[in-house]
Amino acid sequence: MSKPFAIVTGASSGIGLELAAICAQEGFDLLVVADRPEIRAAAERFRSLGADVTVVETDLATTDGVDRLWSAAARRPVDALLANAGHGLGHAFLDQDFDDIRHVIDTNITGTIHLVQLVGRTMRSRGTGRILLTGSIAGFMPGTYQAVYNGTKAFVDSFSFALRAELKDSGVTVTCLMPGATETDFFERADMLDTQVGQSKKDDPADVARVGFDAMMRGDGDVVSGWKNKLQSAIANVTPAGVLAEQHRRMAEPGSASKTEA
Ligand SMILES: NC(=O)c1ccc[n+]([C@@H]2O[C@H](COP(=O)([O-])OP(=O)(O)OC[C@H]3O[C@@H](n4cnc5c(N)ncnc54)[C@H](OP(=O)(O)O)[C@@H]3O)[C@@H](O)[C@H]2O)c1
Repeated sequence: MSKPFAIVTGASSGIGLELAAICAQEGFDLLVVADRPEIRAAAERFRSLGADVTVVETDLATTDGVDRLWSAAARRPVDALLANAGHGLGHAFLDQDFDDIRHVIDTNITGTIHLVQLVGRTMRSRGTGRILLTGSIAGFMPGTYQAVYNGTKAFVDSFSFALRAELKDSGVTVTCLMPGATETDFFERADMLDTQVGQSKKDDPADVARVGFDAMMRGDGDVVSGWKNKLQSAIANVTPAGVLAEQHRRMAEPGSASKTEA
């Protein structure tokens, strides 16, 4: 009997690395992707856990990158798509480079939903499949000094629920994993290490990934990892956006790591 097959994007580090490791432990073969060569070392870890692993190194912010990934699946039926690749971008919007801004949008939104459409169509025609999207509790709050990123995660959170409703009774489930701040390369890559959130104690990516994987296997609609994040997102739902934007300023303003809390 062939093993189930999962595609995991952004599997070279952080939450995606742990999601792919859990998939390998739970008996999935893998197609893993990231943009940098570190994905090859990560693939060795997944192989040591028993998975047959195909690796693709490509930029999922591009149409060509998504097509290359999809070609590498070689028409093998996909049992689970874990669309996790994404990155942030700190600093004030007007000071950011527009190419960097576009890369955040093209990775977190365009590349993500392009892949979800390609894979989702095959799942719908087979009448089975699981899709896990890594959204964020950042999608519940305006992201002062990380404005575009939070906007992309609001998109992912919203999109996930809509797609889930469209696929009701199709045999395909859609789950949104919404982590809070997690100890990964995210804040360094977003140039946010001098911020309060960048220096704060964060969740363990292995724990976050386990919560997401289990929710996907149950077919849940969404899961916020960790009780503090559950509380934060519940409060965000009843707090005016202007207040949330000011709270986010205190967490994400460049240099806020060295300021005493107001
Ligand atoms: N860390 C947090 O606090 C947090 C909280 C909520 C949600 N999230 C979300 O969790 C997901 C994973 O992030 P993480 O925290 O685990 O950060 P991470 O350690 O930086 O991992 C990000 C992964 O995505 C890949 N990636 C990013 N852009 C890509 C692109 N254009 N093409 C291909 N691969 C790309 C990276 O590979 P390369 O290095 O090769 O580009 C890496 O494998 C993201 O969607 C992020 O928004 C993170």
